[in-house]
Amino acid sequence: MIKKILIGILVVALAFGLWVWLFGPTAKGPFLDFMTGKQLGAPADTVVKSRFKLPQGFKIGVFADGVTNARMMRSTATGDLLVSSMRPGEVILLHADRDGDGVSDGRTLLLKGLNRPHGLALRDGYLYVAETGRIIRMPFNPTARTVGNIEVIFDQLPPGGNHNTRTLGFGPDGMLYVSVGSSCNVCIEDNPYRAAILQMRSDGTEARIYASGLRNTVGFDWQPGTGRLYGTDNGRDLLGDDIPQCEINLIEDGQFYGWPYSYDNRVVDPDYGAGHEADIAASRVMVHGLGAHVAPLGIKFLTPETAPPGYGGVALAALHGSWNRSILSGYKVVALRFQEDGSISEQDFLTGFELNEDVIGRPVDIEQGPDGAIYISDDYAGAVYRIGWGDMQVADSKTVAAAPKLETVPFAPEDIIAGQALFAANGCAACHDPASAPKGVQVKVLQHLAQRYDTDSLKALLNVPPGAMPRPDLTDEQRRLLAIYLLSRD
Ligand code: HEC
Repeated sequence: MIKKILIGILVVALAFGLWVWLFGPTAKGPFLDFMTGKQLGAPADTVVKSRFKLPQGFKIGVFADGVTNARMMRSTATGDLLVSSMRPGEVILLHADRDGDGVSDGRTLLLKGLNRPHGLALRDGYLYVAETGRIIRMPFNPTARTVGNIEVIFDQLPPGGNHNTRTLGFGPDGMLYVSVGSSCNVCIEDNPYRAAILQMRSDGTEARIYASGLRNTVGFDWQPGTGRLYGTDNGRDLLGDDIPQCEINLIEDGQFYGWPYSYDNRVVDPDYGAGHEADIAASRVMVHGLGAHVAPLGIKFLTPETAPPGYGGVALAALHGSWNRSILSGYKVVALRFQEDGSISEQDFLTGFELNEDVIGRPVDIEQGPDGAIYISDDYAGAVYRIGWGDMQVADSKTVAAAPKLETVPFAPEDIIAGQALFAANGCAACHDPASAPKGVQVKVLQHLAQRYDTDSLKALLNVPPGAMPRPDLTDEQRRLLAIYLLSRD
């Protein structure tokens, strides 16, 4: 036992030593906090108002604090905001602001126990969530704020690695797209799904590589009008402060974008480029360079119908900020204007996350509410900001104090899946599911159970079944899982 602990300590110490040796000389910024997952909390309203700078006419306030490791967002039909809380493994629903103070009215913990949930998508009544190794979906009721049975639709995502986030989006073609970053800083990958964007049908079938050579395209979105897919890409490390650039790419079917053989405009990579001249020549180059190490994550084209004046069709991109550059860069949101000739002009949109090397947050994703308001998630502060204009309300010092209220604590998806399997294995459907009951069997449809039972009383029922129901041969744990599954179906 003691030997095991000592070996464990030695391994951790060696890994840390190796990390310091490799990155120590260039590491700068909140990288230790990043490694340990430290959360700052949203800054005080006075700091928000004095430090954040926006173009004339915009205002910003804290929409929700205490959203640990807030990553990707999707706004729902009712104006609530889905947020993936990656490190805690949760998906949270921030309730829309109905009382008009610019602050989320409450929150619901929709899912927990997930493995690094990141990408979110909504389609045909389903919520899709990308964990690091798979994509799940479940019926989602935005009005009742509930989710139903979880279904694994794709389990072939290579999990973990240096880049373990998986981002989701539905294209104008109705297909589901997922980006998978590289496993390493720079290397030849074994798994072709790495450093790529995959495309599949909405049920997870017919998956294929849509575009490759993309080191880590954390954010992507389709341009309104043209339907073109643009993505952010994070350039490799350890080539110094200023190369290579992080990229905006126009991502097209079947195209290869250079990594790991080349970067920028077909510059040969010093480690992996040699001997790959043909691949490099055939690679697509970026349409816009954002600068080195700025770490672009979410990108969002503002919907022309609800965008602020002058911002229809403009894309906002979140630059998470550098961790291995001698002068910090990024830590802001930029506005990208697409010119007639296909080039992009870039202006600062939201700055102030970093000031004189003092970092108060790192922007991750950008989303627009139905009213047009712009939301920015911040995984370092653990907060979501709301940006408004005109008479749109954002939080001020009077409203930010409101403590978040968590409404329901649902069940771990793994438990639901296990319970579902037990339901099938124990022949419950034969008497309870009209679709699979044999002819002649009296079916007792299970409904509204959550109104009448909780986990404990359902467990008790399965131990001493009512009326004509035979007693199933189950352990206590199996009864618990079945109870959870049945309650989650309601
Ligand atoms: C042979 C048929 C049969 C099988 C198999 C069966 N049940 Fe039942 N079950 C019934 C009947 C009939 C009732 C209604 C009994 C009554 O109320 O008199 C019932 C009632 C229930 C209820 C209570 C429903 C309510 O509305 O209060 C639950 C929960 C339940 N079953 C779960 C299960 C589970 C889980 C399994 C599998 C482990 C299972 N049943 C297997 C026949 C069956």
